[in-house]
Amino acid sequence: MTEPSLSVSIAGIELRNPVLTASGTFGSGQEYSEFVDLNRLGAVVTKGVADRPWPGNPTPRVCEVTGGMLNAIGLQNPGIDVFLRRDIPFLRQFNTRIVVNVCGHTEEEYLAVVDRLYDAPVDLLEINISCPNVKEGGIAFGQDPRAVEHITAAVKRHAKQPVIMKLSPNVADITEMARAAESGGADALSMINTLTGMKIDIHRRSFVLANKTGGLSGPAVKPVAVRMVWQCAKAVKLPIIGMGGIASTEDAIEFLLAGASAVSVGTENFVNPRITEEIVDGIRSYMIRYGVENIQELVGAVR
Ligand SMILES: Cc1cc2nc3c(=O)[nH]c(=O)nc-3n(C[C@H](O)[C@H](O)[C@H](O)COP(=O)(O)O)c2cc1C
Repeated sequence: MTEPSLSVSIAGIELRNPVLTASGTFGSGQEYSEFVDLNRLGAVVTKGVADRPWPGNPTPRVCEVTGGMLNAIGLQNPGIDVFLRRDIPFLRQFNTRIVVNVCGHTEEEYLAVVDRLYDAPVDLLEINISCPNVKEGGIAFGQDPRAVEHITAAVKRHAKQPVIMKLSPNVADITEMARAAESGGADALSMINTLTGMKIDIHRRSFVLANKTGGLSGPAVKPVAVRMVWQCAKAVKLPIIGMGGIASTEDAIEFLLAGASAVSVGTENFVNPRITEEIVDGIRSYMIRYGVENIQELVGAVR
């Protein structure tokens, strides 16, 4: 059999394979480059960056739960100035695509970051309108279809790079948000962000997280994420980057079959820092085993 083709195109940007990192779980790759050859990833998706430094939420802000973790980091980040000076030059050393995840409290803050990225050597923007851990902005935009359409259109007017809108699972009907992003002119969707959860310390009789609630991620959320990707793949024409609990090759292939054109791996990086590269190899082996020549044959194959 000829070498299988793993390359995918997201909004006209060619990725060497469909395996990406999930925002906030991989930094900008600095710490992981010891374990993973970043040249072998489809893209690195960076931690959310705002127009100025954000301190994040008080600690404790992460904890383990059955099947995953809760986090309430609150989008701590050094701000766009440091990011452009420090993180982009680091990533540019590698032959991988760069996806910058953007956060803000207000439309103006999102647009300020998008404007600063206009001339930056980055390939795609991922707009986080779905963080459950910030009081204003974040998820507030992602739970109202009119707000989703509005912010998408505003970002599209400012952005040079194609725009991926990152959707929240904390809604009654995620296809409404997917359609709203499509109407606003989004080039792609990514889903899912974390599901709002809580853990209580029964000995202290108090919340484990200082923020009380946090975002659930890891294997526990995967069936929800696969279902949402499948629903949205039928509802819109946009390419979807699927994520939520991917911890193995098999998990990644489930997302592709459900309709994702690519996948992002998040929480599992904390368990196994080599997982992204292992999944790249695993997808190739799966394709050889089943005689799949082009990865497109898998995308949305289960309808
Ligand atoms: C510690 C942590 C930090 C995160 N930070 C961000 C972020 O800055 N921006 C964002 O869009 N998503 C963020 N996420 C959400 C992930 O990108 C991903 O959508 C989610 O965790 C589901 O994937 P997983 O189960 O593979 O982790 C974060 C998740 C975790 C666990």
